[in-house]
Amino acid sequence: MKIFIGGINEYEGKEVVLCGWAVNVRSSGKIHFIQFRDGTGFLQTVVDEAAVSKESLEEIKKITIESAIELQGVVSKHPKHDEYELQVKKLVLLSRAEEYPIGKKEHGPDFLLDNRHLWLRSSRQWAIQRIRNTIINATYEFLNKERFIKIDSPILTPTSCEGTTTLFEVDYFGEKAYLTQSGQLYLEAAIFSLGRVFDFGPVFRAEKSKTRRHLIEFWMMDAEAAFVEHEENLKIQENLISFIVKEVLNKNKRELEILERDLKILENTKPPFYRLTHAEAIKKLRAKGSNIGETDDLGGNDETMLTKMYDKPVFIEKYPAQVKAFYMKRDPKDSTRVLNADLLAPEGYGEIIGGSQREDNYEELLKRMKEHKMPIEPFQWYLDLRKYGSVPHSGFGYGLERIVAWICGLEHVRESIPFPRLLNRMRP
Ligand code: 4AD
Ligand code: MG
Repeated sequence: MKIFIGGINEYEGKEVVLCGWAVNVRSSGKIHFIQFRDGTGFLQTVVDEAAVSKESLEEIKKITIESAIELQGVVSKHPKHDEYELQVKKLVLLSRAEEYPIGKKEHGPDFLLDNRHLWLRSSRQWAIQRIRNTIINATYEFLNKERFIKIDSPILTPTSCEGTTTLFEVDYFGEKAYLTQSGQLYLEAAIFSLGRVFDFGPVFRAEKSKTRRHLIEFWMMDAEAAFVEHEENLKIQENLISFIVKEVLNKNKRELEILERDLKILENTKPPFYRLTHAEAIKKLRAKGSNIGETDDLGGNDETMLTKMYDKPVFIEKYPAQVKAFYMKRDPKDSTRVLNADLLAPEGYGEIIGGSQREDNYEELLKRMKEHKMPIEPFQWYLDLRKYGSVPHSGFGYGLERIVAWICGLEHVRESIPFPRLLNRMRP
């Protein structure tokens, strides 16, 4: 019976077939050990020359690292560790690999990125993509449970959502179109049909930033909910992130081990998260020696400095209106500030979520758009939403790769997406 390494525990003592790749082969006298992987896990397999046919033995000699093989054998418990092994009875070499360019020695990031199509097979990259998958599924599960409906926003858009400086322009049959920066504005329309909605897809930012946090193409999940105000918006976010982390801790123990992730902070990621106002954050930063101004946005270095002080995520709320987007609702207690929050991951990681309550009054919104010198006509549909049954509403967007990078403890966001698009790289 053909089985997978994941779930092999159900087959102890049984004869099975596994298909996959050789990670490593070593021999000790008449016993050969093939380290084997099949995409679902890693397995030690044992070939005793006395137990296999002549044909199989000939095949073993030809196995190189990354060769594709089919193994038939009996599943057994490892004599010492809490693991399973395969006692091989038959081996078929499906495809012999040429000398593999990625080895045990250290490679530089450029070499690895040039070989991303092969680098993806390494155990660390395997672990990261498996955790990414858990994060995606946990997000769907949590939001569905909270009555959010998945609704897809367009990729090609006639206007910007987050400002015009980072737009990718494309030709739309002679008209200018732009790749989406965030589906938020479309989700705001959809809440009037479905109440609570989310999208999840690739977004694009032509950012000239070359930092460990920035990608040109990344995956964003935007969530938007009617009748939710600032406080509740933050509650939804901290519950979502706590649920995601709990799911990874439950489902990806092996992967976190491979990544040598320190679990203390992940285990500590439970509500309530820390909360600082922007003004308080500035004070803390200045006390640490930063020369950030009172109405400045937080830069990458500020976020690093600040979040190194915390052992779980921290919200920074109520930023000065002038550094944030036009759609954010003003704080009724201080009209120079907005009802927004960025959620920063600890350990120096920084922003993983940006969100806010939205301006729901037609006249106010129009005023903000004029202040931001935005064209009104292309956004008339968005203004319309404030004319037909407008309600208080809030939402937020997370950057999937930022969350993956933090949970996996990665140095750079480029490892968190299968094929990263960076400032100077879009290959392979
Ligand atoms: O903070 P941002 O720009 O917020 C929005 O786009 C809102 N419209 C979202 C909303 O309210 N629905 O982006 C949201 C998140 C950031 O917190 C960050 O995690 C991620 O997207 N992000 C990036 N991730 C990787 N590379 C980049 N260049 C990113 N820019 C933003
Ligand atoms: Mg932001």
